[in-house]
Amino acid sequence: MKNLAVVVMAAGMGTRMKSKTPKVLHPLLEKPLLWHVLQAVFALQPAKTVVVVGHQSEQVQARFTNQADFVVQSPQLGTGHAVQQARKVLGDHLDTVLVVPGDLPLLSGDTFRRMRDTFDPTLGPMLMLTVTRDNPQGFGRIVRDEAGFVSAIVEEADCTPEQKAIRELNVGAYIFNAQWLWQNLPRIPVSAKGEYYLTNLVGIAVSQGYRVQAVQVDNPAETLGVNTRAHLAQAESVLRQQVNQKWMEAGVTLVDPNTTYIGLDVTIGQDTVIYPNTYLLGQTTIGEDCEIGPNSYIIDSTVGNGCQVRFSVVEQAVMENNVDIGPFAHLRKGAHLAEGVHMGNFGEVKNAYLGPGTKMGHFSYLGDITTGKNVNIGAGTITCNYDGVKKNPTVIGDNAFIGSDTMLVAPVKIGNNARTGAGSVVTRDIPDDALAYGVPARVKSEKK
Ligand code: UD1
Ligand code: CA
Repeated sequence: MKNLAVVVMAAGMGTRMKSKTPKVLHPLLEKPLLWHVLQAVFALQPAKTVVVVGHQSEQVQARFTNQADFVVQSPQLGTGHAVQQARKVLGDHLDTVLVVPGDLPLLSGDTFRRMRDTFDPTLGPMLMLTVTRDNPQGFGRIVRDEAGFVSAIVEEADCTPEQKAIRELNVGAYIFNAQWLWQNLPRIPVSAKGEYYLTNLVGIAVSQGYRVQAVQVDNPAETLGVNTRAHLAQAESVLRQQVNQKWMEAGVTLVDPNTTYIGLDVTIGQDTVIYPNTYLLGQTTIGEDCEIGPNSYIIDSTVGNGCQVRFSVVEQAVMENNVDIGPFAHLRKGAHLAEGVHMGNFGEVKNAYLGPGTKMGHFSYLGDITTGKNVNIGAGTITCNYDGVKKNPTVIGDNAFIGSDTMLVAPVKIGNNARTGAGSVVTRDIPDDALAYGVPARVKSEKK
């Protein structure tokens, strides 16, 4: 099976999502449905992958440029018609085609591998994936012959009462001998609804004397189809549980996995404890021995070892080792807190480097600032960094002590070991070792 191609059927309207966004672009743990499907089929290292798109095809293609080939199906005349559209892109140099639906994002690479490894082209030209489960969710029913091979797939609408009771269902993923597929797709009859059902290929193969092979999905949860927002939430819940399970197995404590939301690109170090209602999203890395949450939201950030984040929001920021923030701290883009920084309640830091050991206990805003080490930021300190036109920088030297309620009117520099009195409005640079106070602040030794 050297030449395997994949066809993803994703042209359906997704009407029941009631959305302006194409169904396959709806996110599941931050990644579009179609991303999950492609990720799984790439496990087979296909020679080519074609996605059949229809509804809002430009948007779908734009999101996945360079990851697959696309073919537009218009009008959408059913799954058989969808696969036929892929032929012109695939050409004739393939021996096997895996066809998968675009709306079953939980099917795994392992399942597709098992399909490929089970498929025996000498028995017949096709193999299909089935699932046995109590909720048929509108899936086609599998009818088997005495020998156990599949003799038909009957769509729910066409079922007799006996067939309707069958609990082995068509998942909608198939492997075909390519040559046979292209020869027989045009033989599919048109349905009462005016559509060409791919499922009719079973009857066609059987009528030609072939055996139709089938493998069953190990884990029925993989076959959850997303047709509505409720299904989307269910699928996300399944995936979230898988991800959370993986981190617990890796030595991370999740106090309440049901309220812990961890993205697929996140990494977490050993013996870190995640408290309830916490989101770790995007390209986020959390070190070892941290305590994160409860009620925290961290995205696209790097957190070192031994850090604490309580009731806080961290976006595009860096926390080095042994930094603690919160409750109610907000690190924004470009905030970099060096080793041992403490940031207490109601603080905001943006585009800033806070040197090692710096303390900022209460109610402060630091933006566009660089501090040295062991700086004390008094309660209520504010960088007045914006003059109405542009952002201006503040620089604070090592061991400086900024008194409570100091306004640092940028651009401004505070020297090493310098101090400001409570309520100072600092409009001019303060030299090393000096004390400045008042409004506007003057250095103590200056003549009044
Ligand atoms: C299909 C199967 C059914 C199976 C079910 C499970 C047929 C006739 N029925 O039913 O046996 O149990 O999937 O997944 O195949 N699509 C296109 N172009 C079209 C029509 C559909 O690309 O013209 C795509 C859809 O976007 C979707 C997939 O094919 O990703 C399945 O189509 P859908 O309409 O959802 O088929 P079902 O009614 O679910
Ligand atoms: Ca479907």
